[in-house]
Amino acid sequence: MRPDLYIDDYRPADRAALYDVCLRTGNVGADAGPDHEDRDLLGHVYLGPYLELEPELTLVLRAAGSGGPVGYAVATADTATFEAACEERWWPPLRAHYRARPPRPGSADARLVRMIEDGVRTEGPWLAEHPAHLHVDLLEPARGVGAGRALLTRLFAALEDRGVPGVHLEVASANDGAVAFYRRLGFTVVAERPDSLVMARRLAPAAVAS
Ligand SMILES: CC(C)(COP(=O)(O)OP(=O)(O)OC[C@H]1O[C@@H](n2cnc3c(N)ncnc32)[C@H](O)[C@@H]1OP(=O)(O)O)[C@@H](O)C(=O)NCCC(=O)NCCS
Repeated sequence: MRPDLYIDDYRPADRAALYDVCLRTGNVGADAGPDHEDRDLLGHVYLGPYLELEPELTLVLRAAGSGGPVGYAVATADTATFEAACEERWWPPLRAHYRARPPRPGSADARLVRMIEDGVRTEGPWLAEHPAHLHVDLLEPARGVGAGRALLTRLFAALEDRGVPGVHLEVASANDGAVAFYRRLGFTVVAERPDSLVMARRLAPAAVAS
């Protein structure tokens, strides 16, 4: 990885900068800012629940010097448990917030609010062997220099330490660069959805005392 970048733990003070990274990478890897009137919505759906519920599996990529976040990787070790916790603790206050302030009908914001209303429940035959899932996003200047590989290598080790047998993710089918990246990191396609692929990879879990 380039020496002007380093991986660090998450601190609550990073939250706004990480939400900004989420927005600026949220349109198939490009800036989704122009698509959204509410600049927090994308983060509320794809990032916030991990910062809140899985801070120990959140890795921050920082620029040396300023220490400012330029990327992140987030994960959960068990998708079903995580989704249940979201249903209990993460989605309800957001539902109340957006019912009081509904977005413009038909907008990109309205689609995200629909996701908040519906919640997320992952199902699929790959889930039993790949119960973890992850997201990784880097600002453009931090890409292509090994940071994505370094972040995921560290996340895989953290998941293996927890005894997790495998990890999956969902990626937009149009995001050719990310699909190529995941393939290089050992993921294969386990399901195809209308606009996205589910990719998964086995891990080498450590034996965990029960
Ligand atoms: C996708 C992303 C996380 C990859 O991280 P990265 O730091 O750029 O990737 P790395 O430099 O660590 O590359 C790791 C390997 O993947 C390959 N790779 C990375 N990007 C690639 C691309 N666009 N096309 C082909 N191969 C690619 C590299 O050649 C490298 O191979 P090697 O290590 O075997 O030599 C990063 O580019 C990114 O954040 N993109 C925008 C947001 C996004 O699309 N996130 C994924 C949403 S599902």
